Amino acid sequence: MRGKFITFEGIDGAGKSTHIEWVAERLRTRGPVVTTREPGGTPLGEDLRRLLLHRKMDLETEALLMFAARREHIAEVIDPALARGDWVISDRFTDATFAYQGGGRGLALDRLEALETWVQGSLQPDLTLLFDVPLETAAARLANAREPDKFEAESRAFFERTRAEYLRRAAQAPQRFRVIDATRSIDQIRVTLEDILASI
Ligand SMILES: Nc1ncnc2c1ncn2[C@@H]1O[C@H](COP(=O)(O)OP(=O)(O)OP(=O)(O)O)[C@@H](O)[C@H]1O
Ligand SMILES: [Mg+2]
Repeated sequence: MRGKFITFEGIDGAGKSTHIEWVAERLRTRGPVVTTREPGGTPLGEDLRRLLLHRKMDLETEALLMFAARREHIAEVIDPALARGDWVISDRFTDATFAYQGGGRGLALDRLEALETWVQGSLQPDLTLLFDVPLETAAARLANAREPDKFEAESRAFFERTRAEYLRRAAQAPQRFRVIDATRSIDQIRVTLEDILASI
């Protein structure tokens, strides 16, 4: 049986990485689990990640490189794992491109949709966990966590647009998305995650 594909989404500092290993451990009781991330997830993809997070570039170049890294990720990691029947959990996927490059940067969504179709064919996550927090909460969490990358140095308005695009997509595909109130404590969020995992 084909495996299930779960993606973690949300603005920088929302708490995605905090929960991913915990979710992976829960799912390991049910079968093999592959955890991965975007941009990245392959040697070439990680090289592209370094460029994407630290080099200034044209807006469309950025979107094209995101999808180039994603193509490699799907071909080398995601598709083979799903074909083996593994669970695949990715820290970000295409919703992030719509949110950051579409919402945040203002790139036309139909361009992104064309690339999505090219790169993914019919592949879509079975479940997307959207960690939703106000910008102030995310910024406060990140303040002492690390040096900001190119995206984390963006304006408040950028992240407002990014968050709004995430929420718009979640409202459009309620069967795939679960919006998690990530302002709560890590333990409270785990209770919600446990319920969601029990339902898939
Ligand atoms: N529910 C929470 N309550 C308080 N602090 C939290 C919570 N969740 C995460 N944090 C802290 O907030 C910081 C950012 O969390 P995390 O790295 O998981 O965010 P992220 O969504 O993965 O961000 P990025 O997109 O930048 O990788 C970390 O220092 C983490 O310990
Ligand atoms: Mg993270």
